Amino acid sequence: MSGPLEPSPLDPAPLDPSPLDPAPLDPAALEQARDQALAAFAAAASLDELAAARTAHSGDRSTVAQARKAIGGLPGPEKADAGKRVNVVLAAVNGAYDARRVVLEDERDARVLVEEAVDVTVLPPRAVGGRHPLTTISERVADVFVAMGWELAEGPEVEHEWFNFDALNFGGDHPAREMQDTLFVEPAGSGLVLRTHTSPVQVRSMLDRELPVYVVCPGRVYRADALDATHSPVFAQVEGLCVDEGITMAHLRGTLDHLATAMFGDGTRTRIRPNYFPFTEPSAEMDLQCFQCRGASAEPGGEPCRVCSSEGWIEWGGCGMVNPAVLQAAGIDPERYSGFAFGMGLDRTLMFRHGITDIRDFYEGDQRFTLALGQEA
Ligand code: DAH
Repeated sequence: MSGPLEPSPLDPAPLDPSPLDPAPLDPAALEQARDQALAAFAAAASLDELAAARTAHSGDRSTVAQARKAIGGLPGPEKADAGKRVNVVLAAVNGAYDARRVVLEDERDARVLVEEAVDVTVLPPRAVGGRHPLTTISERVADVFVAMGWELAEGPEVEHEWFNFDALNFGGDHPAREMQDTLFVEPAGSGLVLRTHTSPVQVRSMLDRELPVYVVCPGRVYRADALDATHSPVFAQVEGLCVDEGITMAHLRGTLDHLATAMFGDGTRTRIRPNYFPFTEPSAEMDLQCFQCRGASAEPGGEPCRVCSSEGWIEWGGCGMVNPAVLQAAGIDPERYSGFAFGMGLDRTLMFRHGITDIRDFYEGDQRFTLALGQEA
Protein backbone atom coordinates (compact mmCIF):
# COMPACT_ATOMS: atom_id res chain seq x y z
CA MET A 1 0.00 0.00 0.00
CA SER A 2 1.32 3.41 -0.81
CA GLY A 3 0.81 6.00 1.91
CA PRO A 4 0.76 9.76 1.45
CA LEU A 5 4.53 9.95 1.79
CA GLU A 6 5.21 7.17 -0.62
CA PRO A 7 4.38 8.41 -4.14
CA SER A 8 2.69 5.88 -6.38
CA PRO A 9 4.52 5.01 -9.60
CA LEU A 10 1.58 6.61 -11.44
CA ASP A 11 2.33 10.02 -9.98
CA PRO A 12 4.49 12.33 -12.04
CA ALA A 13 7.91 13.17 -10.73
CA PRO A 14 7.40 15.96 -8.17
CA LEU A 15 9.98 18.18 -9.86
CA ASP A 16 8.95 21.40 -11.46
CA PRO A 17 12.24 23.02 -12.28
CA SER A 18 12.75 26.15 -14.33
CA PRO A 19 13.74 25.48 -17.97
CA LEU A 20 17.39 26.12 -17.49
CA ASP A 21 17.68 24.36 -14.16
CA PRO A 22 20.35 21.74 -14.81
CA ALA A 23 18.98 19.50 -12.02
CA PRO A 24 16.98 17.26 -14.36
CA LEU A 25 20.16 16.47 -16.22
CA ASP A 26 21.55 14.83 -13.20
CA PRO A 27 22.05 11.18 -14.21
CA ALA A 28 20.39 9.89 -11.07
CA ALA A 29 17.36 12.15 -11.57
CA LEU A 30 17.09 11.01 -15.18
CA GLU A 31 17.27 7.36 -14.24
CA GLN A 32 14.69 7.85 -11.56
CA ALA A 33 12.39 9.65 -14.03
CA ARG A 34 12.86 6.80 -16.51
CA ASP A 35 12.11 4.15 -13.91
CA GLN A 36 9.02 5.98 -12.75
CA ALA A 37 7.78 6.31 -16.34
CA LEU A 38 8.38 2.62 -17.04
CA ALA A 39 6.63 1.63 -13.81
CA ALA A 40 3.67 3.92 -14.58
CA PHE A 41 3.31 2.53 -18.11
CA ALA A 42 3.48 -1.03 -16.82
CA ALA A 43 0.85 -0.24 -14.18
CA ALA A 44 -1.56 1.39 -16.66
CA ALA A 45 -4.51 -1.01 -17.01
CA SER A 46 -6.25 0.75 -19.89
CA LEU A 47 -5.42 2.96 -22.85
CA ASP A 48 -6.85 5.94 -20.96
CA GLU A 49 -4.61 5.31 -17.99
CA LEU A 50 -1.66 4.86 -20.33
CA ALA A 51 -2.40 8.20 -22.02
CA ALA A 52 -2.51 9.90 -18.59
CA ALA A 53 0.78 8.26 -17.59
CA ARG A 54 2.38 9.45 -20.78
CA THR A 55 1.34 13.04 -20.20
CA ALA A 56 2.68 12.83 -16.64
CA HIS A 57 6.00 11.16 -17.43
CA SER A 58 6.98 12.41 -20.85
CA GLY A 59 4.71 15.41 -21.30
CA ASP A 60 5.96 19.02 -21.36
CA ARG A 61 6.20 19.31 -17.58
CA SER A 62 7.93 15.95 -17.04
CA THR A 63 11.54 15.58 -15.87
CA VAL A 64 12.63 14.18 -19.25
CA ALA A 65 11.10 17.11 -21.15
CA GLN A 66 12.67 19.55 -18.73
CA ALA A 67 16.01 17.82 -19.12
CA ARG A 68 15.85 18.25 -22.89
CA LYS A 69 15.22 21.93 -22.50
CA ALA A 70 18.01 22.25 -19.96
CA ILE A 71 20.57 20.98 -22.47
CA GLY A 72 20.38 24.31 -24.26
CA GLY A 73 21.70 26.09 -21.16
CA LEU A 74 24.83 23.92 -20.80
CA PRO A 75 28.27 25.01 -21.88
CA GLY A 76 29.19 23.65 -25.32
CA PRO A 77 31.41 20.73 -24.38
CA GLU A 78 28.87 19.24 -21.96
CA LYS A 79 25.98 19.48 -24.43
CA ALA A 80 26.81 16.39 -26.47
CA ASP A 81 27.25 14.22 -23.44
CA ALA A 82 24.04 15.38 -21.74
CA GLY A 83 22.17 15.10 -25.05
CA LYS A 84 23.17 11.45 -25.40
CA ARG A 85 22.09 10.63 -21.86
CA VAL A 86 18.72 12.33 -22.31
CA ASN A 87 18.17 10.63 -25.66
CA VAL A 88 18.86 7.20 -24.20
CA VAL A 89 16.32 7.85 -21.45
CA LEU A 90 13.79 9.26 -23.96
CA ALA A 91 14.20 6.21 -26.21
CA ALA A 92 13.61 3.92 -23.24
CA VAL A 93 10.52 5.86 -22.14
CA ASN A 94 9.04 6.04 -25.67
CA GLY A 95 9.86 2.40 -26.34
CA ALA A 96 8.18 1.31 -23.11
CA TYR A 97 5.15 3.45 -23.95
CA ASP A 98 4.82 1.98 -27.46
CA ALA A 99 5.19 -1.59 -26.21
CA ARG A 100 2.56 -1.12 -23.51
CA ARG A 101 0.18 0.55 -25.98
CA VAL A 102 0.40 -2.41 -28.34
CA VAL A 103 -0.41 -4.80 -25.49
CA LEU A 104 -3.37 -2.69 -24.27
CA GLU A 105 -4.74 -2.23 -27.81
CA ASP A 106 -4.60 -5.96 -28.40
CA GLU A 107 -6.41 -6.56 -25.12
CA ARG A 108 -9.08 -4.00 -26.05
CA ASP A 109 -9.59 -5.51 -29.52
CA ALA A 110 -9.97 -8.98 -28.07
CA ARG A 111 -12.46 -7.70 -25.50
CA VAL A 112 -14.52 -5.79 -28.09
CA LEU A 113 -14.66 -8.87 -30.30
CA VAL A 114 -16.17 -10.83 -27.42
CA GLU A 115 -18.48 -8.08 -26.14
CA GLU A 116 -19.81 -7.05 -29.54
CA ALA A 117 -20.05 -10.52 -31.03
CA VAL A 118 -23.39 -11.22 -32.76
CA ASP A 119 -24.75 -14.74 -32.65
CA VAL A 120 -26.27 -15.03 -36.09
CA THR A 121 -27.90 -18.32 -35.17
CA VAL A 122 -30.17 -16.75 -32.54
CA LEU A 123 -33.77 -16.56 -33.81
CA PRO A 124 -35.24 -13.04 -34.13
CA PRO A 125 -37.48 -12.20 -31.19
CA ARG A 126 -40.57 -11.73 -33.37
CA ALA A 127 -41.95 -13.71 -36.26
CA VAL A 128 -40.85 -12.05 -39.50
CA GLY A 129 -44.02 -12.70 -41.47
CA GLY A 130 -45.86 -15.44 -43.26
CA ARG A 131 -47.48 -16.31 -46.54
CA HIS A 132 -50.64 -14.37 -47.24
CA PRO A 133 -53.83 -16.46 -46.88
CA LEU A 134 -54.92 -15.47 -50.40
CA THR A 135 -51.66 -16.86 -51.77
CA THR A 136 -52.14 -20.08 -49.85
CA ILE A 137 -55.73 -20.59 -50.97
CA SER A 138 -54.87 -19.76 -54.61
CA GLU A 139 -52.31 -22.52 -54.51
CA ARG A 140 -54.70 -24.90 -52.79
CA VAL A 141 -57.37 -24.38 -55.44
CA ALA A 142 -54.78 -24.68 -58.19
CA ASP A 143 -53.54 -27.95 -56.66
CA VAL A 144 -57.04 -29.44 -56.77
CA PHE A 145 -57.12 -28.84 -60.54
CA VAL A 146 -53.50 -29.67 -61.28
CA ALA A 147 -54.15 -33.04 -59.61
CA MET A 148 -56.82 -33.63 -62.30
CA GLY A 149 -54.41 -32.76 -65.10
CA TRP A 150 -55.42 -29.11 -65.55
CA GLU A 151 -52.86 -26.36 -66.16
CA LEU A 152 -52.26 -23.09 -64.34
CA ALA A 153 -52.79 -19.98 -66.50
CA GLU A 154 -52.11 -16.29 -65.86
CA GLY A 155 -53.01 -12.99 -67.49
CA PRO A 156 -52.17 -9.31 -66.93
CA GLU A 157 -53.98 -7.23 -64.32
CA VAL A 158 -53.87 -4.21 -66.66
CA GLU A 159 -55.90 -5.75 -69.43
CA HIS A 160 -57.13 -4.77 -72.90
CA GLU A 161 -60.83 -4.00 -73.02
CA TRP A 162 -61.03 -6.45 -75.87
CA PHE A 163 -60.03 -9.36 -73.63
CA ASN A 164 -61.93 -8.09 -70.59
CA PHE A 165 -65.19 -7.40 -72.51
CA ASP A 166 -65.39 -7.70 -76.31
CA ALA A 167 -64.03 -11.21 -76.71
CA LEU A 168 -66.28 -12.26 -73.83
CA ASN A 169 -69.30 -11.15 -75.83
CA PHE A 170 -70.01 -7.92 -73.93
CA GLY A 171 -71.42 -5.59 -76.64
CA GLY A 172 -69.92 -2.10 -77.06
CA ASP A 173 -72.75 -0.38 -75.22
CA HIS A 174 -73.88 -3.46 -73.39
CA PRO A 175 -75.06 -2.51 -69.91
CA ALA A 176 -72.99 -5.39 -68.58
CA ARG A 177 -69.89 -3.24 -69.12
CA GLU A 178 -71.18 -0.86 -66.50
CA MET A 179 -72.42 -3.78 -64.45
CA GLN A 180 -68.88 -4.39 -63.30
CA ASP A 181 -67.89 -0.87 -62.18
CA THR A 182 -64.82 -0.80 -64.37
CA LEU A 183 -61.66 1.13 -63.49
CA PHE A 184 -60.39 2.51 -66.80
CA VAL A 185 -56.69 3.24 -67.34
CA GLU A 186 -55.75 6.78 -68.41
CA PRO A 187 -55.50 8.37 -70.92
CA ALA A 188 -59.14 8.06 -71.97
CA GLY A 189 -59.35 5.79 -74.99
CA SER A 190 -56.19 3.85 -74.07
CA GLY A 191 -58.26 0.71 -74.46
CA LEU A 192 -56.88 -0.51 -71.14
CA VAL A 193 -58.73 -1.37 -67.94
CA LEU A 194 -57.82 -2.94 -64.63
CA ARG A 195 -59.32 -6.35 -65.26
CA THR A 196 -62.72 -6.61 -63.60
CA HIS A 197 -62.63 -10.41 -63.47
CA THR A 198 -60.33 -13.31 -64.28
CA SER A 199 -62.49 -14.30 -67.28
CA PRO A 200 -60.19 -12.58 -69.85
CA VAL A 201 -57.65 -15.30 -69.02
CA GLN A 202 -60.15 -17.71 -70.63
CA VAL A 203 -59.71 -15.94 -73.96
CA ARG A 204 -55.93 -15.67 -73.64
CA SER A 205 -55.73 -19.37 -72.83
CA MET A 206 -57.84 -20.37 -75.82
CA LEU A 207 -55.69 -18.23 -78.13
CA ASP A 208 -52.37 -19.38 -76.63
CA ARG A 209 -52.92 -23.09 -76.24
CA GLU A 210 -53.62 -26.16 -78.28
CA LEU A 211 -56.99 -27.82 -77.79
CA PRO A 212 -58.22 -29.32 -75.59
CA VAL A 213 -57.84 -26.58 -72.94
CA TYR A 214 -58.12 -27.24 -69.22
CA VAL A 215 -56.92 -24.24 -67.22
CA VAL A 216 -57.33 -22.79 -63.75
CA CYS A 217 -56.46 -19.09 -63.27
CA PRO A 218 -56.32 -17.48 -59.83
CA GLY A 219 -55.58 -13.75 -59.70
CA ARG A 220 -56.34 -10.24 -58.49
CA VAL A 221 -59.22 -8.25 -60.00
CA TYR A 222 -60.35 -4.64 -59.58
CA ARG A 223 -63.65 -2.79 -59.39
CA ALA A 224 -64.65 0.78 -58.55
CA ASP A 225 -66.17 -0.24 -55.23
CA ALA A 226 -65.79 1.67 -52.00
CA LEU A 227 -63.99 -0.27 -49.29
CA ASP A 228 -66.32 -1.63 -46.62
CA ALA A 229 -66.74 -4.86 -44.68
CA THR A 230 -67.94 -6.79 -47.73
CA HIS A 231 -66.46 -4.84 -50.69
CA SER A 232 -62.91 -4.09 -51.70
CA PRO A 233 -61.71 -2.34 -54.89
CA VAL A 234 -59.21 -5.18 -55.23
CA PHE A 235 -60.06 -8.78 -54.53
CA ALA A 236 -59.13 -12.25 -55.73
CA GLN A 237 -60.94 -14.62 -58.05
CA VAL A 238 -60.25 -17.98 -59.55
CA GLU A 239 -61.40 -18.87 -63.03
CA GLY A 240 -61.72 -22.30 -64.54
CA LEU A 241 -62.12 -23.18 -68.21
CA CYS A 242 -62.36 -26.45 -70.04
CA VAL A 243 -62.83 -26.72 -73.81
CA ASP A 244 -62.93 -30.17 -75.35
CA GLU A 245 -65.12 -32.37 -77.50
CA GLY A 246 -68.34 -33.57 -75.90
CA ILE A 247 -68.26 -31.35 -72.79
CA THR A 248 -71.66 -30.99 -71.11
CA MET A 249 -73.15 -29.33 -68.09
CA ALA A 250 -72.77 -32.61 -66.19
CA HIS A 251 -68.98 -32.15 -66.37
CA LEU A 252 -69.41 -28.67 -64.93
CA ARG A 253 -71.51 -29.96 -62.03
CA GLY A 254 -69.08 -32.74 -61.25
CA THR A 255 -66.12 -30.37 -61.30
CA LEU A 256 -67.78 -27.81 -59.02
CA ASP A 257 -68.82 -30.50 -56.54
CA HIS A 258 -65.27 -31.80 -56.49
CA LEU A 259 -63.91 -28.32 -55.75
CA ALA A 260 -66.53 -27.72 -53.04
CA THR A 261 -65.62 -30.99 -51.35
CA ALA A 262 -61.91 -30.23 -51.54
CA MET A 263 -62.47 -26.78 -50.01
CA PHE A 264 -65.21 -27.44 -47.47
CA GLY A 265 -65.12 -31.14 -46.73
CA ASP A 266 -66.94 -34.30 -47.79
CA GLY A 267 -70.65 -33.99 -48.34
CA THR A 268 -70.57 -30.25 -49.14
CA ARG A 269 -73.28 -29.72 -51.73
CA THR A 270 -73.54 -27.11 -54.48
CA ARG A 271 -76.48 -26.01 -56.57
CA ILE A 272 -76.80 -23.89 -59.69
CA ARG A 273 -79.53 -21.42 -60.54
CA PRO A 274 -80.20 -19.80 -63.93
CA ASN A 275 -78.53 -16.43 -64.38
CA TYR A 276 -77.07 -14.27 -67.12
CA PHE A 277 -73.46 -13.76 -68.19
CA PRO A 278 -72.64 -12.68 -71.77
CA PHE A 279 -69.83 -15.21 -72.12
CA THR A 280 -71.75 -18.33 -71.07
CA GLU A 281 -74.96 -19.83 -72.44
CA PRO A 282 -76.67 -21.17 -70.48
CA SER A 283 -75.31 -19.30 -67.46
CA ALA A 284 -75.80 -20.05 -63.82
CA GLU A 285 -75.17 -18.73 -60.37
CA MET A 286 -73.44 -21.27 -58.21
CA ASP A 287 -74.36 -21.64 -54.55
CA LEU A 288 -72.67 -23.53 -51.79
CA GLN A 289 -74.68 -25.25 -49.12
CA CYS A 290 -74.22 -23.24 -45.95
CA PHE A 291 -71.25 -24.77 -44.17
CA GLN A 292 -72.60 -23.54 -40.83
CA CYS A 293 -76.15 -24.94 -40.74
CA ARG A 294 -75.80 -27.33 -43.68
CA GLY A 295 -79.14 -26.01 -44.93
CA ALA A 296 -81.05 -26.84 -41.72
CA SER A 297 -81.97 -23.18 -41.06
CA ALA A 298 -84.08 -23.13 -44.23
CA GLU A 299 -86.08 -26.20 -43.18
CA PRO A 300 -89.42 -25.65 -41.46
CA GLY A 301 -88.73 -25.08 -37.75
CA GLY A 302 -84.95 -24.84 -38.30
CA GLU A 303 -82.75 -22.68 -36.04
CA PRO A 304 -81.94 -19.31 -37.66
CA CYS A 305 -78.45 -19.09 -39.19
CA ARG A 306 -76.44 -15.85 -39.39
CA VAL A 307 -74.01 -17.10 -42.01
CA CYS A 308 -76.61 -17.73 -44.74
CA SER A 309 -79.42 -15.54 -43.34
CA SER A 310 -81.38 -18.79 -43.00
CA GLU A 311 -81.35 -19.29 -46.77
CA GLY A 312 -79.50 -22.58 -46.46
CA TRP A 313 -77.23 -21.59 -49.37
CA ILE A 314 -74.57 -18.98 -50.00
CA GLU A 315 -73.59 -17.50 -53.34
CA TRP A 316 -70.18 -18.71 -54.41
CA GLY A 317 -69.69 -17.66 -58.04
CA GLY A 318 -70.87 -17.82 -61.62
CA CYS A 319 -70.58 -20.54 -64.23
CA GLY A 320 -72.01 -21.86 -67.46
CA MET A 321 -71.33 -23.40 -70.85
CA VAL A 322 -68.91 -21.28 -72.89
CA ASN A 323 -70.92 -19.14 -75.31
CA PRO A 324 -70.26 -20.26 -78.94
CA ALA A 325 -69.57 -16.57 -79.75
CA VAL A 326 -66.64 -16.65 -77.29
CA LEU A 327 -65.28 -19.85 -78.83
CA GLN A 328 -65.50 -18.19 -82.23
CA ALA A 329 -63.72 -15.03 -80.99
CA ALA A 330 -60.86 -17.34 -80.00
CA GLY A 331 -60.90 -19.12 -83.38
CA ILE A 332 -62.44 -22.36 -82.07
CA ASP A 333 -65.10 -24.25 -84.03
CA PRO A 334 -68.22 -24.34 -81.79
CA GLU A 335 -69.67 -27.14 -83.93
CA ARG A 336 -66.91 -29.44 -82.84
CA TYR A 337 -65.93 -28.16 -79.41
CA SER A 338 -67.85 -27.14 -76.34
CA GLY A 339 -66.74 -26.05 -72.93
CA PHE A 340 -67.67 -24.92 -69.48
CA ALA A 341 -66.33 -22.08 -67.35
CA PHE A 342 -66.70 -20.91 -63.79
CA GLY A 343 -65.38 -18.10 -61.63
CA MET A 344 -65.61 -17.39 -57.94
CA GLY A 345 -64.23 -15.05 -55.32
CA LEU A 346 -61.30 -16.37 -53.33
CA ASP A 347 -61.76 -13.79 -50.57
CA ARG A 348 -65.34 -15.01 -50.20
CA THR A 349 -64.20 -18.60 -50.13
CA LEU A 350 -61.75 -17.82 -47.33
CA MET A 351 -64.37 -15.81 -45.47
CA PHE A 352 -66.68 -18.84 -45.55
CA ARG A 353 -63.96 -21.21 -44.49
CA HIS A 354 -62.80 -19.17 -41.52
CA GLY A 355 -65.89 -17.22 -40.50
CA ILE A 356 -64.16 -13.91 -41.42
CA THR A 357 -66.72 -11.12 -41.52
CA ASP A 358 -64.58 -8.22 -42.79
CA ILE A 359 -62.89 -8.39 -46.20
CA ARG A 360 -60.59 -5.50 -45.18
CA ASP A 361 -58.66 -7.98 -43.02
CA PHE A 362 -57.14 -9.34 -46.23
CA TYR A 363 -55.77 -6.01 -47.38
CA GLU A 364 -54.71 -4.18 -44.22
CA GLY A 365 -51.49 -6.14 -43.85
CA ASP A 366 -51.82 -6.99 -40.15
CA GLN A 367 -49.21 -9.69 -39.62
CA ARG A 368 -51.24 -11.37 -36.89
CA PHE A 369 -54.02 -12.07 -39.41
CA THR A 370 -51.60 -13.31 -42.03
CA LEU A 371 -49.78 -15.55 -39.57
CA ALA A 372 -52.95 -16.95 -38.04
CA LEU A 373 -54.49 -17.83 -41.38
CA GLY A 374 -51.67 -18.02 -43.87
CA GLN A 375 -50.54 -21.56 -43.21
CA GLU A 376 -53.92 -23.22 -42.97
CA ALA A 377 -55.92 -21.18 -45.46
N1 DAH B 1 -66.59 -13.26 -64.37
C1 DAH B 1 -67.78 -13.33 -63.58
C2 DAH B 1 -67.78 -12.25 -62.54
O1 DAH B 1 -66.75 -11.78 -62.19
C3 DAH B 1 -67.90 -14.68 -62.91
C4 DAH B 1 -68.12 -15.77 -63.89
C5 DAH B 1 -69.39 -16.10 -64.31
C6 DAH B 1 -67.04 -16.48 -64.41
C7 DAH B 1 -69.61 -17.10 -65.20
C8 DAH B 1 -67.26 -17.50 -65.32
C9 DAH B 1 -68.57 -17.81 -65.71
O2 DAH B 1 -66.26 -18.21 -65.87
O3 DAH B 1 -68.75 -18.83 -66.57
O4 DAH B 1 -68.82 -11.88 -62.06
